[in-house]
Amino acid sequence: MPTYEVPTQRNIKIITCVDCVHSQSCCGCSMAMLTALLAVVAALLALYGWATRHHRYWARRGVPCSPPLPLLGHYRDFVLQRRDLGGLTRDLCRQHPQAPALGALLATEPVLIVQDPALLRLITTEYFYHFSARELADYTHQEVLTRSLFFTAGDAWRVLRQNMTPLFTSSKMRNMFPLVKRCTYVFEKMLDEEIAKSPLQEVGSLAYRFTMDSICACAFGIESNVMGEDPEKNPFTKIGDDILVFPKWRGLKLAIRAAWPSFFYGMGLKLFPTSIDEFFRSMLQRVCIERGGAPSPRQDYVDLLLSLRNNNGIRGDSLDNIKDPAIKIRLNLEAEEELLVSQAIVLFAAGYETTSRTMSFLLYELAKNPDIQEKVLAEVDAYLSTRGEVQFDVTTALPYLAQCVDETLRLYPVFAVLTREVASPVRLPLGGRGAGARGVGCCWSAGCACTSPCFTYTRIPTTSPSPSGSAPSGSPRGAQEHPLAHVLPLRRGTQALHWQAVRAAAAAGGAGDGAEVVPRVPRAPRAPRGPRGPRAPAAPAPLRMKPVSLTQQAEGGVPLVFTRRTGWRGRAFREMGAA
Ligand code: HEM
Repeated sequence: MPTYEVPTQRNIKIITCVDCVHSQSCCGCSMAMLTALLAVVAALLALYGWATRHHRYWARRGVPCSPPLPLLGHYRDFVLQRRDLGGLTRDLCRQHPQAPALGALLATEPVLIVQDPALLRLITTEYFYHFSARELADYTHQEVLTRSLFFTAGDAWRVLRQNMTPLFTSSKMRNMFPLVKRCTYVFEKMLDEEIAKSPLQEVGSLAYRFTMDSICACAFGIESNVMGEDPEKNPFTKIGDDILVFPKWRGLKLAIRAAWPSFFYGMGLKLFPTSIDEFFRSMLQRVCIERGGAPSPRQDYVDLLLSLRNNNGIRGDSLDNIKDPAIKIRLNLEAEEELLVSQAIVLFAAGYETTSRTMSFLLYELAKNPDIQEKVLAEVDAYLSTRGEVQFDVTTALPYLAQCVDETLRLYPVFAVLTREVASPVRLPLGGRGAGARGVGCCWSAGCACTSPCFTYTRIPTTSPSPSGSAPSGSPRGAQEHPLAHVLPLRRGTQALHWQAVRAAAAAGGAGDGAEVVPRVPRAPRAPRGPRGPRAPAAPAPLRMKPVSLTQQAEGGVPLVFTRRTGWRGRAFREMGAA
């Protein structure tokens, strides 16, 4: 081999290969490059192995599952914020229409999608102990808001739930009703003013101004005045957005947290800005001081908070008592400020967001179906003609409107999917491989996720009682017969009370304003005239759901055109006078 002397600064001679010098590399460099290349390939293979380690997870358990993508699993379009979770889950279900449940991967992690209502019922009732957690139970302590009743799990959830349920009794609803009623009058006034400015209104924002003021009055005894001037500048509007509006970066955080919570919290990330906690902490402090630190006759959330704090703890039963009636464990949770603030935030958010979305979807459906709208208006007119004002019986005395609310909830469930997490190991009757006498085929360990797409029960013909679902049928229904009642036991109990809260707000809102103005759907822009033939007929503007949000939100809101009714007030009150 020809050799070449390489001069060095210290005049040390290194004998090396001539070919290497000419090609300006050497065996050592090549080795380093090769090692680096191998390391990259090994890292990629390891990443691939990690990203696909659950690809056979569902096949091994005999649960149907379409082939997933590496890393993004079945939820690529959700993670990339191209598609809403409800729509995506519905498409996955359509791939296995006959399966009671199907497997999927949320990014790299297994999720069971339950599409058989009977199975969901089992999960939420008989198997409740095993599925008592909602999601990411091991991480609920990471943020103030995730310590709330909605997110928390285990004993903390049970104790909180026992202490907060009394807030929703019928007598509490009755006590609070004058506050809601007052808000309906402000709502009417606000509606008049806004419609005078423009008949085209985004109903979602009108509705949330009403529900935000109502929940703040009912739960905290304060006037948030979101229905006043400049709602954009109102601090409650801002805080509501901080909780529930998910722009791109926050949407990505939501997806990462759902898929890889340990990485998410390990990086020090948070889903909810801490400004929310500060806002509610100081608001509650202020109201507590105003009440002199003692519960008032209002019996709202602030009073509950004060009595829990004064009792020096939150007492309740352990979740284990559900598993075995012989167990009678009593617990005492510390009434920490953070825990109490957290419940206030969830009452605020759950109170205004759910009801305002439902109201806006209800008005959208009524606008699309003028004949149904006519019937609702006739019912409201008849009600007002006898009562002269909105009274507490508005929640029960308007059966057709109540049916429309139910139907709206069926068509636009506030949460596109219900989430559950396995809290203790369980075998589910999925009828897969190894199924026993009861068809028990799938064993699960704690931490596994389970989702149930509400849309699937309500809109897929095999499970839905009325799949086309545009109009309520003629016969009135009771609260227990809500179309989702058989599948949505709302984390054990309080279902009827829950609907009562929903109905109270929606019916009061509906009766308060629905009588004076008529909403209709603005026409979508007409298709341009083609070279031959006329323009396509204008269709009502369809709603598209936002790809990332906690609740179902229409992209661009729900714009409707409001038209003033003529003479309704005269008609209603003349009839009352005649009676
Ligand atoms: C249209 C109105 C509403 C709808 C459609 C609705 C729907 C729901 C649903 C589907 C859940 C989850 C249940 C589960 O996972 O089992 C839930 C939970 C909850 N909602 Fe509502 N809700 C509405 C109004 C309200 C109101 C007005 C409040 C309070 C002021 C409220 C407070 C809560 C709370 C605290 C939870 C958590 C309960 C728990 O996990 O124990 N909701 N709601």
